[in-house]
Amino acid sequence: MVGFKRLMVVLSSIGLLVVLFSQCTDTDADKGYELAAADSTKAGMATCIQCHRNIYDDYLISPHQKTSSIIKGHELLQADSAISNQFSFDDHLKIAVERRDSGAYQVAYVDNEEQLARRFDVAFGSGKDAITFATWRGNRLNQLQLTYFSRLKTWANSPGYRNQQLYFSREIDVRCLECHTSFAEHKITKTGSLVTSQELIRGSVAYGIDCERCHGPAAKHAEFQLNHPEQKSSKYISLYKSFTRKQKTDACAVCHSGSDRKALRSTFVFKAGDDLDEFLDKDSETVRDPDVHGQQMQMLAGSQCFIQSKTLDCNTCHSIHGNKNEGLAGYSNKCISCHQTVKHSDRTLSSGIVLKENCIDCHMPKRSSKAISFKLSGNSKIATYLLRTHKIAVY
Ligand code: HEC
Ligand code: HEC
Ligand code: HEC
Ligand code: HEC
Ligand code: HEC
Ligand code: HEC
Ligand code: HEC
Repeated sequence: MVGFKRLMVVLSSIGLLVVLFSQCTDTDADKGYELAAADSTKAGMATCIQCHRNIYDDYLISPHQKTSSIIKGHELLQADSAISNQFSFDDHLKIAVERRDSGAYQVAYVDNEEQLARRFDVAFGSGKDAITFATWRGNRLNQLQLTYFSRLKTWANSPGYRNQQLYFSREIDVRCLECHTSFAEHKITKTGSLVTSQELIRGSVAYGIDCERCHGPAAKHAEFQLNHPEQKSSKYISLYKSFTRKQKTDACAVCHSGSDRKALRSTFVFKAGDDLDEFLDKDSETVRDPDVHGQQMQMLAGSQCFIQSKTLDCNTCHSIHGNKNEGLAGYSNKCISCHQTVKHSDRTLSSGIVLKENCIDCHMPKRSSKAISFKLSGNSKIATYLLRTHKIAVY
């Protein structure tokens, strides 16, 4: 029964906070995009359409652009199959996903008696593998306990949560938004180097990753091009083609190298072309095996292809603006562009795989993340989280 005592303590402290914050849960406060665009150095995505229509259209379906959003009308929560789902920890304790007048909620029950309900306000993740949800409590974002695990089309206890303990007040920190949104105004209070509290300015959050998150504020560029329509070359925007390889990979590593490194400055102001070491302290990185989740940069950097070619970078294989899934054959063509003659043994050649169509499953196999796994309903089952390794090698 120790578990239950602990549970009640957590619940009662939450109860107090509910009273304190219940006045401030209005979704109309989410005027995110307009507000961030009011920053005069930024033009906003709508301005780019006029001259970069194709890129814009492609980009609308990119997982980057959909990696965070306000819940209103979220596809998943329109589906009855997701709504009727329940997550049981055991015979006493469960969390249900319910539709109510003011939106969808995660509702915790002990012996069928409702303990607390939290509204779905924000979604993190485009849903390729998983979607995590959060609820606003004043100027703080709290993670909801259940995460949707797309591969198994089911709700799961969020990664890092204990079994048999309701916990609805885990804070979604600014760092999380630095990788999953375009901007969020925030206030961090520190004692020494220790973060003691942080507040997000709710209306300032610009959900999804927009053009200027990668390319930098582009109001000046747009204004110049608008005033000089005859000018076919660009001004006031960094030229990706002229970057060194480190600049190119830094532009991705800002979000694809994990969160081990200590932040020197907010990465919200990092833009393509900047030196990442001025934002994340290189010396603070702990040396350990990189994880397939979130650390594509470190994984790739350990590959002979990266070390010996000197030219390979993320965009050799990925087309960043589109969701053009070129499939494994498309990716394999990129391998073949450097590896025309490969000496495979007879054993490999007789594997049954058409080699030129799929270099990937053998040399970049899916691996389970050490950082993330999901506890499924019923307590004992753990589902692994599979991602491609970017350490290209012979396995
Ligand atoms: C009035 C037209 C116009 C508008 C509006 C405009 N651009 Fe451009 N942009 C251009 C032209 C012309 C070029 C040069 C040709 C090219 O690369 O497409 C260019 C080039 C670029 C480049 C390429 C730099 C490189 O690596 O070669 C980027 C990135 C870019 N624009 C981003 C943006 C973003 C982001 C916005 C919206 C905030 C935007 N542009 C709005 C006309 C425009
Ligand atoms: C350092 C950058 C970074 C931080 C910090 C970060 N993420 Fe992510 N997250 C990523 C990247 C990159 C991916 C996609 C690839 C992967 O899993 O490696 C991802 C994937 C996800 C996914 C799955 C997306 C999908 O469509 O399948 C979810 C959900 C998610 N993150 C939620 C969160 C939440 C919630 C936080 C904060 C508590 C957080 N992330 C913090 C970079 C980050
Ligand atoms: C996740 C980061 C990211 C986002 C978001 C992004 N870009 Fe890019 N963009 C890049 C990279 C990287 C390149 C260089 C690609 C290459 O050379 O293969 C690029 C190249 C470009 C170019 C010049 C080359 C070309 O393909 O014509 C333009 C123009 C451009 N981007 C406009 C945009 C616009 C407009 C948006 C928003 C609709 C946008 N980008 C969103 C990363 C991004
Ligand atoms: C501002 C942070 C950020 C930057 C910059 C960024 N990414 Fe991502 N990337 C993410 C997040 C978050 C996800 C998870 C998207 C989702 O929710 O599914 C992701 C997903 C991806 C995916 C998997 C989804 C897909 O499109 O197939 C690829 C590939 C990827 N990123 C490549 C890149 C490359 C290459 C660059 C550099 C040009 C880059 N990213 C820059 C944050 C970022
Ligand atoms: C930009 C060129 C380039 C691209 C693209 C590239 N590689 Fe490589 N790769 C190299 C170089 C250079 C080496 C080191 C010399 C060698 O072994 O041929 C290498 C080495 C390898 C090795 C031997 C690794 C080891 O540890 O000994 C394998 C396996 C390999 N690559 C597979 C691939 C696959 C699969 C892809 C596509 C997913 C790919 N490469 C894409 C350049 C590239
Ligand atoms: C069925 C699994 C499998 C497939 C598919 C496969 N490989 Fe390999 N590859 C291997 C193995 C195993 C080795 C080690 C040598 C051997 O036993 O054949 C190897 C070795 C290599 C090497 C290092 C040897 C050398 O000649 O430099 C490269 C590079 C390579 N593969 C590239 C590729 C590329 C490119 C493709 C796709 C066109 C591909 N492989 C498809 C399993 C595979
Ligand atoms: C040699 C080719 C190659 C390079 C270089 C490369 N990737 Fe990938 N990446 C792939 C392939 C292949 C996949 C798997 C696509 C699939 O399964 O549909 C992938 C998948 C991903 C995913 C999704 C992970 C998953 O398993 O769902 C992310 C995120 C990603 N790459 C980011 C990056 C970043 C960031 C870089 C640069 C540091 C990079 N990639 C460099 C080939 C590459």
